[in-house]
Amino acid sequence: MIIAQITDLHVVAKGRLFHPMISTNTQLVDTVTHINSLDPRPDVVIVSGDLTEHGLTEEYDFLREILKDLIPPVFLIPGNHDRREALMTAFAGEGYMPQPDAPFVNYAIERFPLRLVGLDTTVLGHDYGLMCEQRLRWLDDTLSARRDFPTLIFMHHPPFRTGVQWMDASGLYGGRMMEEVVRRHRQVVHVACGHLHRPIHVAWGGTIASVSPSTCHQVALNLTGRGGFEITMEPRAVALHVWDESYGLISHLSYIPAGYEEIPILSTLTSEDRAQLLSQNRRDYQEICQTEYNR
Ligand SMILES: [Fe+2]
Ligand SMILES: [Fe+2]
Repeated sequence: MIIAQITDLHVVAKGRLFHPMISTNTQLVDTVTHINSLDPRPDVVIVSGDLTEHGLTEEYDFLREILKDLIPPVFLIPGNHDRREALMTAFAGEGYMPQPDAPFVNYAIERFPLRLVGLDTTVLGHDYGLMCEQRLRWLDDTLSARRDFPTLIFMHHPPFRTGVQWMDASGLYGGRMMEEVVRRHRQVVHVACGHLHRPIHVAWGGTIASVSPSTCHQVALNLTGRGGFEITMEPRAVALHVWDESYGLISHLSYIPAGYEEIPILSTLTSEDRAQLLSQNRRDYQEICQTEYNR
């Protein structure tokens, strides 16, 4: 069985750009084409949050329109850029999606040789994530219900420290307590995360936890302990988690070829031009968010 994981799509409304230089919508179309063309084709696609940029209804409408071309079945959970109520409303017709009045987008998919558990770590209005008591209890109960069945958990905020300052500053509260829960359930073969827009792997909770690259842009690696978030156009990828009962779970990255759209490379700009462009973009975006949230 092959599980394709994509993450951090940051879809915007039809006709909009995420960034002066990045069309996340076109990049998602490329990603769908890439997954459909893989041989063997994945059995299922999981999407680990930041589905949209602002959590707006029109963004979810366009996300649904793009994802309907995906041949394998797809399962979504929210990230800090999403709004869970808008997500649950837009995908209410999908059997697995909880009702819009549910407290969280938590669910378990039982129809595959590997059990898939989707976890909602979001806190409305904040970039950090949280595994509160209610969510920890849900996870413990859900894992206890099928102790003998190999399970993959997918969630947006990674539950571990990365040692990268900005990443840990917008991390997950309750990660240590979640680690204790997962450690008690030896059937968990992998914890697949998003949020950080970089490939990262760690031994955690008696299993392996990872972060997959984004389908739009990546974030520059910075291990200096200072400095912040910087967008980079390193390769975009789909994680392919291959489950084989005799070997266990093996994770690969399948890089997404660049699409037809021209994406200027940030590294060709001088650092001054780049800083100016990014700060202008940040101001534009703050304005757009403010206007759209106030609508
Ligand atoms: Fe993201
Ligand atoms: Fe995120």
